Amino acid sequence: MSKKSALILAAGEGRRMKTSKPKVLAEVLFKPMIDWVTDAVQAGGVDEICVVTGHCHEELENHLGGKFKIAVQNELLGTGHAVMQAKEFIKANSPGNILIINGDAPLIDAKTISTAFEYHESHKNAVTIISAKIDNPFGYGRIIRNKDKCLKRIVEENDATNAEKMINEVNSGAYWFNCSVLLDALEGIVEMHDKKGQAEYYLTDAIEVILAKNLNAVAYEAGNPDAVLSANDRVQLQLLNEIARKKVMREHLLAGVSIPCPDGVMISPSVKIGNETEILPGTILKGNTVIGENCVIGPNSLIEDSIIEDGVTLNNVQCFSSTVKKNASVGPFARIRPDCVIGEGVKAGNFVEFKNATIGDRTSVSHLTYIGDADFGSEVNVGCGCATVNYNGKEKNRTRVDDHAFIGCSTYLVAPVRVGKNAYTAAGSVITEDVPENSLAIARARQSVKKDWIIKKKPYKWQK
Ligand code: UD1
Ligand code: CA
Repeated sequence: MSKKSALILAAGEGRRMKTSKPKVLAEVLFKPMIDWVTDAVQAGGVDEICVVTGHCHEELENHLGGKFKIAVQNELLGTGHAVMQAKEFIKANSPGNILIINGDAPLIDAKTISTAFEYHESHKNAVTIISAKIDNPFGYGRIIRNKDKCLKRIVEENDATNAEKMINEVNSGAYWFNCSVLLDALEGIVEMHDKKGQAEYYLTDAIEVILAKNLNAVAYEAGNPDAVLSANDRVQLQLLNEIARKKVMREHLLAGVSIPCPDGVMISPSVKIGNETEILPGTILKGNTVIGENCVIGPNSLIEDSIIEDGVTLNNVQCFSSTVKKNASVGPFARIRPDCVIGEGVKAGNFVEFKNATIGDRTSVSHLTYIGDADFGSEVNVGCGCATVNYNGKEKNRTRVDDHAFIGCSTYLVAPVRVGKNAYTAAGSVITEDVPENSLAIARARQSVKKDWIIKKKPYKWQK
């Protein structure tokens, strides 16, 4: 088997995107475009990947985290010039075939890459361009064919005649090249650039160079036309988000997830959702979130990098880097900040916030409460308006509440402090010392009543 490598062009500045970051870090469904491309290329069976970086290259290289070879393009002189910066990588992978692909076309899929390769190899092509017929070809290089329908050249939008602009078969910017043919063609690209007086070195000129040598250059039409779409500006980025959003939702629907109204529902491609779970409008599911079966998530919930077990209800909840165990019900209007474990069957109601806390099974925290840096046991009842006082201005301390404790309304638990098993705190208490098990702690001023106080007071108008 000959070697299969890939070169991803990602040096571009993204002027049309109006961003200070590398363009390929712009996100589709909260995942940078470059990650979509590297994932598809890897899944498409490529052995080794090199990324051409340029604009803000350190930021992009940090993002890639050393997973791929890097070729830096210091001057952004076009896609042909970008490939020239990776000559050593191409040589190192010769003999073999290399996929050249743009980092700003995130919808490319592994199947398109691998079927194009099979076609390329079985026809012994020098280059196979992945093309597609799309509804709005504006901005893309057009595929020009001769009378016999064979590929003749690629013409860029700016160089196209009005008749050529009518062509809707476009260049995806992804091509399988025979490595040694590509290395030779790079010289031809320089000659074409000089001859035509172009501002940039066009990789697309390689087609004419290769055809002039009587080698086989073919356009292979992708089965899935969306696969070729790219984003140069935020209008196109929104279109890609919409296409990806619908595709991801469709896969979940077919797998048994219910999304009765897709308004405002965004699900990252990495999210897993169990059977018969219902996702309601305005819900965003991000990162490595895993949701079990028979849950109801939403409306208006944001869940990121969290594990939500079977039968959970999250209504108007924000939840980050946490676990919510089976049959718990949280919300409406609750926030679970990172590092929480919310136990089985927990009931957490409106305006409740958790942070770095474990909450035992079947504990109830129904209203207006903050629990941070705390370990609560199971079947604890927390009244309305309680707080763990976890921060003394210098350091954070933990609160511990043992099984079956009852925390009266408006209790403040000043950490470090522990409430023992079955213990009660009286409503309105500020608990600064540990409460032994089975005890009641009252820590508030005793009520005094001034009898007839109003009558003795200088009367108001209405008392005359
Ligand atoms: C390019 C193709 C066009 C094709 C389209 C598909 C050329 C000349 N044109 O146009 O035929 O239809 O892609 O999306 O190749 N890049 C570099 N260095 C550079 C310039 C660009 O690495 O100097 C990278 C960019 O980061 C981007 C990719 O190459 O990821 C494509 O560059 P871009 O400027 O977006 O090309 P298009 O105008 O879209
Ligand atoms: Ca582009």
